Amino acid sequence: MKLTKTSTTLVATAVLFSLSACGDDSAKTSRSDVAVAPAAKTAVAVSGVPKAGLPPLAPLGEPPIPADNKQTDAKIALGKKLFFDPRLGGDASVACSTCHSPEQGWGWAEDISRGYPGTVHWRNSQTVINSAYYPRLFWAGSVPSLEAQAPSAAKGGVAGNGENDIMEARLALIPEYRKAFNEVFGDEWPIIANAWKAIASFERTLVQRDTPLDKYLQGDKAALGEAELRGKALFEGKAKCIQCHNGAMATDFEFYNIGVPPAKRWEEDGMAQITFRFELYAKGAKESLYRSAKADPGFYFRGKNEWDLGKFRTPSLRYTKYTAPYMHNGAFYELSEVVDFYNRGGVDEDGRTTGYPQNKTSLIKPLGLSDEEKEDLVAFIEAFSGDEISITKPALPGYAPLFTKAELKRAKK
Ligand code: HEC
Ligand code: HEC
Repeated sequence: MKLTKTSTTLVATAVLFSLSACGDDSAKTSRSDVAVAPAAKTAVAVSGVPKAGLPPLAPLGEPPIPADNKQTDAKIALGKKLFFDPRLGGDASVACSTCHSPEQGWGWAEDISRGYPGTVHWRNSQTVINSAYYPRLFWAGSVPSLEAQAPSAAKGGVAGNGENDIMEARLALIPEYRKAFNEVFGDEWPIIANAWKAIASFERTLVQRDTPLDKYLQGDKAALGEAELRGKALFEGKAKCIQCHNGAMATDFEFYNIGVPPAKRWEEDGMAQITFRFELYAKGAKESLYRSAKADPGFYFRGKNEWDLGKFRTPSLRYTKYTAPYMHNGAFYELSEVVDFYNRGGVDEDGRTTGYPQNKTSLIKPLGLSDEEKEDLVAFIEAFSGDEISITKPALPGYAPLFTKAELKRAKK
């Protein structure tokens, strides 16, 4: 069913009242969204050959570790359990690992992510592999660290929808967690902020540094085949991907509107539209945008500048072999579709492009690639991924009453 503008607005307005009445945390997330100053712009070549001096593709080093959250084995082991534990959420049914499933590229293999029960999310779920290297997380770069990201996920209305005090109380009733928080952080009772630190530490172990491309760049010239090498030359030359996908992470960490059209499912799914209007409201969008927006404003939320409408973070190309569908809204299901989209100059096969065409970057132009060149480019993108990362899921510890029957009896006297 295609929703009309009026029906969407009516439904959305009705839902807004019920959602904001629950003190939803997306509103809190959004205030920090707005407070952050936009990142400085880097100059990139606008036409012709990519500008010399761009950071070259490079092997990936160790991820940065913040001074106030050092890695320890015990902390990582605790964070791993918490990442898989649905009790860090509203109704104890959704864990981080639900939407970041190891079997689905550590993301969610649908265009738009599933949401908290009764909702759908509004964006594509990103892989958490290599998220340790991003200075700003999320498609629109709204949070600055993994420590800050975890609570916004566990508490956000369409993700975990948890409440701090309930989540803390649940942890307190799990003896194994009580012991672990005490050993790792010295907490007498588990403190929720330390749960986010432990999860961040675990995420910093989810990195991949031994891809065919890493091996090649470290001197193993046999690590890339002929098609991949031809693809590499295109990536750095004729196809100009290197303008934005550069450096060890294959991203400049900048924000662009490259022309991705709104995803059809997103336009037609009433639940997705409800979430979208709710997010617009929660992030303080002005009423005209709230009522009329037909595409995700993306980076616009950071500074509320019109020229940022429809911009999203350049994602890493690492691990993308396993993370379909692609783009902030999952508009493309195959890497070959992504390459076709770039080859047409940032236009979909049906001629559709971004909902904010005035902001589309001039760096994206038709490329004139032959079918063979397109295949070579896809082969090279796949060389940014090594083997699939799978782990043994941790056994989750059980609840136990806080007091024994004998203690309760004594307390009654
Ligand atoms: C209901 C689904 C859902 C749940 C539950 C969820 N996430 Fe996410 N996650 C997403 C979606 C969707 C995005 C992208 C959102 C955006 O960019 O606005 C995302 C983005 C992220 C990112 C950013 C990656 C990047 O490249 O910037 C990290 C890290 C992450 N999630 C970790 C977590 C952790 C830790 C938890 C548990 C505390 C969690 N997520 C729970 C759906 C979910
Ligand atoms: C102007 C900067 C820029 C250039 C040039 C560029 N990209 Fe991108 N790329 C982006 C941005 C920004 C996104 C995310 C856009 C969105 O979600 O709306 C993206 C997304 C992608 C994705 C999806 C990744 C994911 O995790 O969903 C792939 C694959 C990709 N680009 C490959 C390429 C290839 C191949 C080229 C060269 C033909 C190229 N890019 C050129 C900026 C760029």
